Amino acid sequence: MPQEVFQQAAQAVLNYNNTGLSILEIGHRTSTFQAVMDEARALVKELMQLDDKHEVLFLHGGASTQFMQVPMNLLDDKETAAYADTGVWGIKAIKEAKLYGKVEVVCSGKESNYTAIPKDFAVPNDAAYFHITTNNTIYGSQWQKIPNTSTPLVGDMSSDVFSRVIDFNAFDLIYAGAQKNMGPAGVNLLVVKKDLLGKIKRPIPTIMDYRNHINEGSMLNTPPVFAVFVCMLTLRWLKSIGGVAAVEKLNDAKAALLYKTIDESPLFRGTVVNEDRSKMNVCFVMNDPSLEVSFLAFTKERNIVGIKGHRLVGGFRASLYNALPINSVEVLVQAMKDFAQLQP
Ligand SMILES: Cc1ncc(COP(=O)(O)O)c(C=O)c1O
Repeated sequence: MPQEVFQQAAQAVLNYNNTGLSILEIGHRTSTFQAVMDEARALVKELMQLDDKHEVLFLHGGASTQFMQVPMNLLDDKETAAYADTGVWGIKAIKEAKLYGKVEVVCSGKESNYTAIPKDFAVPNDAAYFHITTNNTIYGSQWQKIPNTSTPLVGDMSSDVFSRVIDFNAFDLIYAGAQKNMGPAGVNLLVVKKDLLGKIKRPIPTIMDYRNHINEGSMLNTPPVFAVFVCMLTLRWLKSIGGVAAVEKLNDAKAALLYKTIDESPLFRGTVVNEDRSKMNVCFVMNDPSLEVSFLAFTKERNIVGIKGHRLVGGFRASLYNALPINSVEVLVQAMKDFAQLQP
């Protein structure tokens, strides 16, 4: 997250807007917090350029909560939902959906060990919805082209929300855990087209029913006040630097620099096919895996942290989320070049 957001959040914990109160102790029903919630929701609408059919909510829980809450609200027992299996998070979403109705996995990247986004598939017209994971955080693949389907489209955008210009209105439902591009863990952004709701027969527990949250202006119960506040600060920051189009340019530059270095290096190689490479999570391995431990130690000496790949993929993963400055990528790229120089 941006440094200025950390500073503003820290100040607000001590004394929010000179009220003498901490953001952590103001009541969520006060006009002070109402203004925060209103601004956060309005900024999402503005930055995503959403039309009036889409509602914006901030809900408790992680993105994993939405694996369950989406089918609970959209999938009737006898209906079928279509899912794309593009890796771990998609698989977890599929597992939960099966608790509520039928699931048809219309495509899977499993055979290629999730090194590519599946291309040839058909979504049944009568499916309740089609679910994709727009960016696959663990494998480093990303849907560069959002599928065009007549079926309502649901997107888990946890790891690439607000990172690139796409037609957000093409989605009937978007969810994203906050902790990558927005704010602290514990809150989900949910964008949903109102007319998609209220079609299933199953009773939905009050707190799980999106309609209740919409009716109560995303304040059905105590919201995660601090997390929503920090999301609002990050969204303000995003707007101040020029919005999604501006941050996309920065993200493109960061990803291009790192992928170029990987492709030109005799030591490293990317794990995902070029056209599906993620601009948020760059996954790469070494041609000689026995060098990986020493490369990791080499980068640690240069204060580069958090680049060890997920255990399912191995190697390395550099996450280039919105707030990461390009000079951090330059430091990594330099380390990769210097390490190569040291090899016999
Ligand atoms: C794409 C994606 N979906 C879902 C999740 C799960 O999010 P949470 O831990 O907030 O439940 C993650 C976590 O990294 C993710 O990257």
